[in-house]
Amino acid sequence: MSEDRSEAEARRDQNTPRPLVLLLSGPNLGLLGEREPLIYGNDTLADHVERARATAEEQGLAIEHLQSDHEGVLVEAVHGARGRAAAIVINAAALTHYGWSLHDALAAFEGPVIEVHLSNPNARESWRHTSVLAPVATGTISGLGSLGYELALRAVARLVA
Ligand code: DQA
Repeated sequence: MSEDRSEAEARRDQNTPRPLVLLLSGPNLGLLGEREPLIYGNDTLADHVERARATAEEQGLAIEHLQSDHEGVLVEAVHGARGRAAAIVINAAALTHYGWSLHDALAAFEGPVIEVHLSNPNARESWRHTSVLAPVATGTISGLGSLGYELALRAVARLVA
């Protein structure tokens, strides 16, 4: 049994509060499943969130998810995570490439920030090659589809343990 696993189990057994991870999804991700399936696959956002939730559970983490098409709503969610959430996992979708207010909000968040993309933006149009969030992200996972969310939650478990 790995150390991670036993720490997660210990948290469950002792009923200690689980570190909270805020999972944020940006514009148009609510259309996953119907939107450009050749690029993003057939899974819906609910499918991805469910997998993230299962990994969080296994890793002894609590998870809260919010999707918004509006940058300000995501900015406010990051503000609300300050002092409350242990980490943020974010797929900011197109805001990744120009969302400077989201950059600034994440810069004011004290915990780890993991940037996730289903596709590999660096292998796509040149305007997707810049992430304005990358400078304030602890790490980025791209191009692995849903596995990216699972890996992000595993990374958080290691980083906040
Ligand atoms: C995305 C990549 C972005 O460039 C794009 O705007 C998205 C989704 C991804 O998950 O691959 O909406 O973040």
